[in-house]
Amino acid sequence: MGLGKLGQTFTAREILDLVKDDLARVEREISLESVASVDAATTIGRYLQDGGGKRLRPMLVLLASKLVGSVTDGSIRMAAVVEMIHAATLVHDDVIDSAETRRGRPSSNKIWGNHTCVLAGDWLYMQAFQMALRERNFHVLDLLIALTQMMVEGELLQLDRIGRMDVSEADYMELVDRKTASLFSACARLGAIMGGADENLEARLGEFSWNLGIAFQLVDDVLDFTAHEKVLGKPVGGDLREGKVTLPLIYALEDASSEERQLINRVLEDGSYDGAPFARILRVIERHRGFDRVRERAQLFTDKARTIIHEFPESACQRALAALTDLVTERDH
Ligand code: IPE
Ligand code: IPE
Ligand code: MG
Ligand code: MG
Repeated sequence: MGLGKLGQTFTAREILDLVKDDLARVEREISLESVASVDAATTIGRYLQDGGGKRLRPMLVLLASKLVGSVTDGSIRMAAVVEMIHAATLVHDDVIDSAETRRGRPSSNKIWGNHTCVLAGDWLYMQAFQMALRERNFHVLDLLIALTQMMVEGELLQLDRIGRMDVSEADYMELVDRKTASLFSACARLGAIMGGADENLEARLGEFSWNLGIAFQLVDDVLDFTAHEKVLGKPVGGDLREGKVTLPLIYALEDASSEERQLINRVLEDGSYDGAPFARILRVIERHRGFDRVRERAQLFTDKARTIIHEFPESACQRALAALTDLVTERDH
């Protein structure tokens, strides 16, 4: 599994050791459940699974279960469900963004085309729901359906704002809540439910994970500008080229000169860095402390997450979840 930096630090190893065997069961479950009666859906699901990915969402399910009780068969299944929902959103997201790369390889839309990928994404969603249905638990279904609608609404809102420079910080935060934090929150909640937690505990873990998810996307949006493409596994500078004005730019735009605004607008209009080189855009953001300010903002959310997790009794699992919050802000991909 391509955990990169996540796999190198001592605390990260501690996290991995705690869930390694369970994660292997989750991978088997995903493989078994990704077989469709039509080859294309199976192949695309497999392709994404084999491409790596950090498996953060299944880890959250497993750690939440362990923290409140133990990892059950239901926890394993739910961990597979959230990774499959995540995979479905990535397949659709790459169609919408006309992405070229994902997890360091050509994205599925590049190989199989948009039409096939839309349907394969649909199939993955439905397969995930069918697996969840086996729990015969309405609360679980409620949570997953509300979550999926939240995420799709997020993508619709994002589409509506493509190419616009007048995106506010509040607009942006709403998107982050919808497209990323809601899934993170659901992961911890599902893990808690499967581990036998009461509603109170479930809500608390959901809040922990929601804060982690917000920080995760803020960092993702910084990395979109600052990472190395080889490490990130997807092209750098993609958000602005695709017309998405994210928080580093929103902060920079707050006090940018008219010349700097024109430069940014040029990329939005052209959909490329041909008329306004990427290095110059980076300098504009840096001059206005865009990246530092977003990282500081992300830190506030991980601080909140850490505070919540420290309310729980000391255990290896509690330490692992606390360590995960540090890794989210320190990650390089
Ligand atoms: C990508 O998520 C989508 C975002 C929310 C930024 P990840 O960065 O967790 O993707 P993988 O699963 O590791 O590839
Ligand atoms: C990710 O949004 C959230 C999803 C629901 C897929 P992004 O568009 O920022 O994700 P990447 O950067 O393509 O992974
Ligand atoms: Mg995208
Ligand atoms: Mg992104």
